[in-house]
Amino acid sequence: MENYKSFVENAKYYLDKDLHFITNLANISAYIYQEIEQLNWVGFYLYDSLELYLGPFQGKPACTSIAMGRGVCGTAATKLETIVVDDVHAFKDHITCDSESKSEIVIPIVTRFGNLFGVLDVDSPILNRFDNDLKVALEEIVNLMVDIL
Ligand code: SME
Repeated sequence: MENYKSFVENAKYYLDKDLHFITNLANISAYIYQEIEQLNWVGFYLYDSLELYLGPFQGKPACTSIAMGRGVCGTAATKLETIVVDDVHAFKDHITCDSESKSEIVIPIVTRFGNLFGVLDVDSPILNRFDNDLKVALEEIVNLMVDIL
């Protein structure tokens, strides 16, 4: 079992409520990408009341918009629940942005007022990368972000 305690604690250094939210999202995506091994894409899709559009990220250029209910991102955003995909080829509606991606986690970001803000999307080039410990750690980082939105 991995211990992600310091990973979550140190994320606070990249979340400053006095900064523009884009600045925080940019640094948090870089922080996750730097700290967690075996990732090939970390970033945000943000909700504009119609669809999800590409926000700050690390990795290869990606699809610029995703309809609600489509792909892993649009499904997590619609259901408002975290989706872990151990093998992207087994997820029927998976949208391929980087053919290297083999597993993925998408965590919805919901404000304290209950509004959908967007999703955190993390991809890995290996199967089954996102065990429960890593899922919980990433969800904790999303909760820290929600605190300052
Ligand atoms: N795989 C995602 C699309 C975004 S990329 O992975 C960066 C999906 O199915 O929604």
